[in-house]
Amino acid sequence: MPQTIAVLDFGSQYTQVIARRIRECQVYSKIYHYTTSAEELKKDDVIGIILSGGPSSVFAKNAPIPDAKLFELGVPVLGICYGIQLMGRLLGGEVAKSTHREYGNGTLAIAKPGRLFAKLPRKLRVWNSHGDKLTAMPPGFTAIGTTDNSPFAVIEDRKRNFYGIQFHPEVFHTERGVEVIRNFLLNVCGAQQDWTTKDYIKHAVADIKARVGKSRVILGLSGGVDSSVAAALIHKAIGKQLTCVFVDNGLLRAGEREAVEKLYGDHFHIDLRVVDASKLFLRRMKGVDEPEQKRKIIGRTFVEVFEQSLKSIGHADYLAQGTLYPDVIESVAIGNNPAALIKSHHNVGGLPERMKLKLLEPLRELFKDEVRAVGAALGLPREVVWRQPFPGPGLGVRVLGEITKEKLEVLRQADSILVEEMKKTGWYWKVWQSFCVFLPVKSVGVIGDERNYSWVIAVRVVESIDAMTADWTRLPYDLIQHISNRITNEVQAVSRVVYDVSSKPPATIEWE
Ligand code: XMP
Repeated sequence: MPQTIAVLDFGSQYTQVIARRIRECQVYSKIYHYTTSAEELKKDDVIGIILSGGPSSVFAKNAPIPDAKLFELGVPVLGICYGIQLMGRLLGGEVAKSTHREYGNGTLAIAKPGRLFAKLPRKLRVWNSHGDKLTAMPPGFTAIGTTDNSPFAVIEDRKRNFYGIQFHPEVFHTERGVEVIRNFLLNVCGAQQDWTTKDYIKHAVADIKARVGKSRVILGLSGGVDSSVAAALIHKAIGKQLTCVFVDNGLLRAGEREAVEKLYGDHFHIDLRVVDASKLFLRRMKGVDEPEQKRKIIGRTFVEVFEQSLKSIGHADYLAQGTLYPDVIESVAIGNNPAALIKSHHNVGGLPERMKLKLLEPLRELFKDEVRAVGAALGLPREVVWRQPFPGPGLGVRVLGEITKEKLEVLRQADSILVEEMKKTGWYWKVWQSFCVFLPVKSVGVIGDERNYSWVIAVRVVESIDAMTADWTRLPYDLIQHISNRITNEVQAVSRVVYDVSSKPPATIEWE
């Protein structure tokens, strides 16, 4: 085990973000349940401890309280938010119960930079989210930072290397927060920056091996970044014990199935089972034109086909999924967050329980950019690692209205022209998504002297950070013209191309 920064989890929604920031600083960290004893931490070569925030109040009846002996280990401790209140409580300070939460931006004034704020400005915009508040410091501490609402926003005990901060340095809204964390790791704990993606992979591989043993693992491969990286990682760990299932639902883009077969079958030599269920999907979609119904049928059929394929593969113990940390948050998100819905398709809902499969989710703690780095280090090509998102229901939601084989073919041809041009000009890698949509309307055109009455293709190109909001991309007019020319010239059944200039909101990225 490398030298470890222990992150003690008190139930904060940001615990994984703290771990992520530590990885960003190339330092190894491990998240521990708050009840972990000081004795156990000692065994793990812990060189520093971070107490996470948490939703609880230190005054609550069942407030999570750690082993107080961790303050006797002789290693630096950083308490964040709930963590500082715990320090106040356990080390002899005073904490006041607050009737309202302080939530949002504040300005931190640093009185004494010390090691924690070395090379940082004296004023920083910080993000607060706390109820209780420290009103008297424990003995040995001095206040080195204040906000309008708190004279003890940052406290320090130089002798014992204990630090408490009221705000959240790990969140994006805190200015230069990562540097505060880095200062704690490097200046206070003396951590080495030697934790790289390669180390992460080595660690993950050992972990998967230990968990899985001799069992068999099944993974539903979609060709997307997450399931691809999960497949490559698990395959590195257990080789032929992994079987990947790729369902051809007839709603894939041109060349997609072949690319998956080539990469995973020929290149990685993964035991890949391609299930051609395109006829079944198309049959079920016949006469259906309502978007939600289409999605439901596609989702249901997928689960059915997947389940059937598992039966033919034989006994397996684990179902692997490329779940990322943001999916974990989204799946508990409340309200009409579309991202939460997305996963209900991908998660092959209820399957693990029905089939008595255990879940294997090796990317569960990672964020998308980290998954991409892992993918690249595992040798996955740029085409996969930087692939644009593609919806689970595939072209099924890009042929508006009723889906037919002919319409799908027209869309595939137009879409592959778009993708080719976007890649050739480098725009493909700069935007969030770029795709064609088949509009079920006919429009009049002219080819030579002939009247041409055919279909309309919409081109949708958007920029986004997280798909929650999006703006249409201002592609150069010449490029739009070139794409339009090629589509109308090369795809006979298309007489007109339109460019979508709607942002999200009010429009969504997909048309259905
Ligand atoms: P919308 O259209 O809601 O899409 O703005 C937001 C993002 O989600 C993708 N998307 C889906 N992904 N299953 C998926 O896996 C789905 O049913 C689905 N619907 C939309 C969409 O491509 C965009 O990136």
